This record gives sequence, structure tokens and C-alpha cells, in this order.
Amino acid sequence: MTPSSTAPAPVSPRSYFIRTFGCQMNEHDSERVAGVLETMGYRRAASAEDAGLVLFNTCAIRENADNKLYGQLTSLKPLKEAQPTKTVVVGGCLAQKDQARVAERAPWVDVVYGTHNIARLPALLAEADSSSLPVVEILEHTETFPSALPARREVAHHAWVSISIGCNNTCTFCIVPSLRGPEKSRRLGDIVGEVRALVDDGVREVTLLGQNVNSYGRDLARAGRAGPGRGNRTLFAELLHALGDVEGLHRVRFTSPHPKDFTSDVFAAMRDVSNVCEHLHLPLQSGSDRVLKRMQRAYSARRFLDLVAEARGTVPGVAISTDIIVGFPGETEQDFAATLAVTRAAAFDSAFTFEYSKRPGTAAVDLEGHLDPAVVGERYRRLAALTRELSAAANAREVGCSRELLIEGPSKTDGSRMSGRTRTNRLVHVPRTPEARPGALVEAVVTDAASHYLLGKVAHLVVAAPAARLAASPAPGEGGGRRPLPVVGASPR
Ligand code: SAH
Ligand code: SF4
Ligand code: F3S
Repeated sequence: MTPSSTAPAPVSPRSYFIRTFGCQMNEHDSERVAGVLETMGYRRAASAEDAGLVLFNTCAIRENADNKLYGQLTSLKPLKEAQPTKTVVVGGCLAQKDQARVAERAPWVDVVYGTHNIARLPALLAEADSSSLPVVEILEHTETFPSALPARREVAHHAWVSISIGCNNTCTFCIVPSLRGPEKSRRLGDIVGEVRALVDDGVREVTLLGQNVNSYGRDLARAGRAGPGRGNRTLFAELLHALGDVEGLHRVRFTSPHPKDFTSDVFAAMRDVSNVCEHLHLPLQSGSDRVLKRMQRAYSARRFLDLVAEARGTVPGVAISTDIIVGFPGETEQDFAATLAVTRAAAFDSAFTFEYSKRPGTAAVDLEGHLDPAVVGERYRRLAALTRELSAAANAREVGCSRELLIEGPSKTDGSRMSGRTRTNRLVHVPRTPEARPGALVEAVVTDAASHYLLGKVAHLVVAAPAARLAASPAPGEGGGRRPLPVVGASPR
């Protein structure tokens, strides 16, 4: 058939579109998936309609994440029927949880893979090519650290850097350990090598990722560094210091620390290492000691508030964000009042608030006292109103201040503005100016505040945007000896 001038452009079988759900760990994995696909000759498509391969990198942290994915897969069905050669792939946490059930609920899926086998994608796609049935492969252990795979970053000047995978904790509400496996740390030298290569490639800011960054290195230490069973409790702070010496690296962030494992050397590193940003994401989960115990979080509300005080006392200007769950099984009005009180006392700069969601296979499912959703919803609204009030107050205090912004890209809601972030992770919109280009560092004066963003005016350029990169490159590899990776057509986060 000869395409007419009005016919849509034919879909290239070697084009891909990735939809990512869930946390930063999944964002990072998606960049590796994209890197693997581009190494195979695939090119990015603008939408699922235009792509020969559509991949969903899934999340299972709460029930609505499940519903969202199956909803999206259902809406893809007519497209798959109209374009039968389209390859549909489902990977990540929900695939790890549901395994073959994904293909039972959505038989038009071609490949299902889990959290441990991104490196196997080329082989699975080849298998799917010669199979009329969905190809499902779920492994129990990670064979290749995703960091060893090629990456195609979403943003030229920012990179996610994984310092560990998995989690050894037993928070009773949480499904992550069963999906991501036990904690495994990367060697410090490998991480620093990857970061150096990224900086050579134009990266200005890295976010270190781990489910519990404060326990980073304890498994490495047990293998010999600090003697059997002792663990090296200072390796995360050592890593921050080592990254402080990477020339050209302007900002280092990390997520998430666990309050039970937080040590003072990390606060000292946040104060002393100039490129480590003054932002701490410290998940509270609940302000009630009784609930914290049932969650198996291993800290008290007092200990949490002591950490907040230590952070504010040690790291000048630090902003603190948190995660809070409302309606954990057995939560009483008194427990919830304790959460409100701790939230107010901690004066969080921002908070992610969640209604408790039952996750099959987690210990909390079997606890007594699951709450009526109406009660949970009402408490959620009260907590959200408080966190909004606290964010608005913290942002209002920024008006008139001069802040360094790393420009991310055009504002998502107003094309006449560019958006950037302060070192404290506040979103600031500024009018477009020649110097406010993605990746540039500018000094801006804050002029107005709302609860979730600030408005400002660029005062002057600090560091110009890096030159645009056009070509893809191969994986950095563990040890950081090889060239860094691909940045193609950077887009804002
Ligand atoms: N490892 C990270 C958290 C990963 S999950 C940490 O410990 O901070 C991100 C957040 O999702 C958690 O902090 C928690 O607040 C929320 N969450 C996890 N499981 C949940 C559940 N079953 N219901 C509601 N929220 C949940
Ligand atoms: Fe889940 Fe707790 Fe591990 Fe975070 S620390 S991933 S909340 S089990
Ligand atoms: Fe992240 Fe969701 Fe998996 S929060 S680790 S993508 S379950």
C-alpha cells in the first residue's frame, strides 16, 4: 500500500514508548530499559500509538497502582487489535507480583518480565517474535545490576544513581522487599566511577537511590571491610564525602534514608560537603509509637523528632520532606492525633501522604482492626490540610530570598515560564530568559509563594547550560572504566 499524504505515518517496528509507574527506582530502571532498547536499534516514539513496542514499567506499592495498570492495558487492547504487530511488554514490580496473572488478565501482552531481569529483555523480545503466546519470565534474584546496563537518561543534566538494590527491612505494610529482594550494595568505587563518567557527559545533579540509603555498605562490610558481622556503618557518609570531590558535580541528593539507621556522620556530611543539597526526605509513616511498633519501623516519635532537630541544628537551611500513611490497621483517633502532632512539631516543608492500602502477602494484612475507608478518607483530608498549611508557611518564608536554581525545562502549566529547583528541592517558576536553559544554574529572587511552588525572577547566571548532546553511547559498566551513557534529546522531568 502506498501511503497517501493524509495517511498516518507508518509505525516503525523498531520504535518504543515507555510508561513508568511508581518510584524513582522505577524511573532509573526505565532509563536502563530505554538504553537496552536503543542499543538494539530502537528509537524513542512520541506516543504509544506511534510506537512499535509499548512497555509498561509497573509499580505495586498500593492497590490503585494495580488498578491503574490494568486500566491502561485494557485501553491499549483496541490499539493492539488495530496494529497487531505492536509489541506490548509489562515489566517491573507489579509483573514480579502478579507474574503469569498479567498475561491471564491481558492476553494481548507479548512479554512479561520482573524486577530482576531487565538485562534479559533482548532475549525475551526475540522469543516473543517467534511465539504466539505471551512470554513470561520472572526471576527470584538479580543477575545483572541495572547500573551495569546502558542508560538513556530522561534529562541531560540529572541522573539517578543506584547505590543499592532491594531492602532488608520488614515494615509490615510494605510489599517492596518481596518484589525487589534482599539489599545488595554496590561498591563505593563503582558508584564514584559512574558519577564521574556522568559528569563528563554533562550531568550536574545526581540522586542516589536505595530503599534504605543509611544501611548502604553494611553487606559489603560484612564481606570483609569491618570484620565479620560488624558492618560498616559509616560508608554512606564516606560516599557523600567522596562525591564531594567530583569536580563539576554541582548537586547530590539521596532518597530514602530510614530514621532507625540514621547516623550523625550523615548530617555532618550534609553540612560539610558543599555539593550535597540541604534537603532531607525522612519518612515518618506515623506519629504514634503504638502504630510505629505495629509497622515494625523500629523508632519512636521522640527519636524521629530528635533526628529532625539534629538535622535542623546541623544543616543550616535544610528542608525536610516525609511520607505518612493514614489508616494503618488498628489506628485510633488518638494515634492519628499523635501523627498530626508530630507532623506539626516537625514542621515538614512538604509531605507525601497515603491512605493505607492492603498489600497481599504483607504482615499488616493479618493485623486486627482494618479501618472503614470513610474514616481513613476523613483522616487523610485532615492530614493533607495540615501538610498543605505547613508547606505554604515554609514557602511563604522563601519570598524575598535569593536562591540558586537548577533549571529543568519549560513549566508544565505555563509555556512562558521555565521551572527549576532550589537546593532544598522547591519548585520555582521563572520567566523565560536566554540564560534560564535546561541544565543551567541561575540565581533567582523569590517573588511569590503558593503551597506547592514558588515564583521568581532570574537575577544572574551562575553556570551556563551544558552543550546539547546528540549521540547515544554505551553503558558505563561497573568500575566506571568505560564511556558514560546516552543523552538524546533531553526533556524536563
Ligand atoms: N524505601 C522507602 C519507601 C518506599 S515506598 C522508605 O522506606 O522510605 C514509598 C512510600 O509508600 C512509603 O514511605 C510509604 O509511606 C508508602 N507505602 C508503602 N506501602 C504502603 C501501603 N501498603 N499503603 C500505603 N502507603 C504505602
Ligand atoms: Fe518498604 Fe520499609 Fe523497605 Fe522502605 S524500608 S522499602 S518502607 S520495607
Ligand atoms: Fe517502587 Fe512501586 Fe516497586 S514504589 S520499588 S515501583 S512497588
